[in-house]
Amino acid sequence: MNSLVVKDLCKTYIVNKRQNHVLRNVNMEVKEGEMVAVMGPSGSGKSTLLYTVSGMDHVTAGKVDFFGRDISKMKPGEMSDLRLDEMGFIFQQMYMLKNLSIYDNIILPAYQSKNGRGKEKRQEINERAKGLMHKLGISEIAENDINEVSGGQLQRACICRSLINRPKMIFADEPTGALNQQNSKEVMKELNRINREGTTVMLVTHDMKVAAKSDRVLYIEDGNIKGEYGFGKYTAQEEARERERKLSNWLMEMGW
Ligand SMILES: Nc1ncnc2c1ncn2[C@@H]1O[C@H](COP(=O)(O)OP(=O)(O)OP(=O)(O)O)[C@@H](O)[C@H]1O
Ligand SMILES: [Mg+2]
Repeated sequence: MNSLVVKDLCKTYIVNKRQNHVLRNVNMEVKEGEMVAVMGPSGSGKSTLLYTVSGMDHVTAGKVDFFGRDISKMKPGEMSDLRLDEMGFIFQQMYMLKNLSIYDNIILPAYQSKNGRGKEKRQEINERAKGLMHKLGISEIAENDINEVSGGQLQRACICRSLINRPKMIFADEPTGALNQQNSKEVMKELNRINREGTTVMLVTHDMKVAAKSDRVLYIEDGNIKGEYGFGKYTAQEEARERERKLSNWLMEMGW
């Protein structure tokens, strides 16, 4: 089964009456359980690709199937339910609400979901949130304000939030972009684990170390996928260097 099937996807932005063809007939697939990284120069359309295939932004033309459902034709309400219930999002800028604790930020999407109504459901959500926070090592900051935690902790909290509704797929735009090496490594460890447990992941990154831990890397240039490099699943820390070396050679061929 495919998580995502993208056919002839085009995205054109119009700014000051000028057309900017950002995505030009992109075709791609992400298999269920796969972890795919998207790399490419700045401005090549990576974020735009992530946003259009996840229904955060409209497509100009083409078709996007998410687990067999055509999201390019969905009504806004239907789309936002799907995003809330079946997709998880992680960004470079870690958006959390300022007047809520870390814990409340994490459970919010679950309380917002139609599946999260009623006392029993809420109890379940609270258990799940605690479990996730424990897993990601941030139980002790549950009641902290979002400005009372480190960048790495905040990003791990964002991962908890993205997982609270047990999404089928996670979309991440430079999830480690604002983190130092150590925190970046920890976040990747969590993403790899989540992925091994069955959640499909599509992430955009500039970081070779991050991309080397994915199953497959897509290289996008001028709004088109220029090539792809398949690794297979990342399993052991020992392989990391070798994978980075291979990826580096391939990226050089791609003109990165
Ligand atoms: N909302 C928008 N309105 C108009 N133009 C946009 C919009 N978002 C992106 N663009 C344009 O689309 C192009 C691709 O942008 P995008 O953000 O997808 O690039 P990117 O590959 O993610 O770059 P970076 O690596 O710097 O994040 C750029 O030329 C950008 O100016
Ligand atoms: Mg971007």
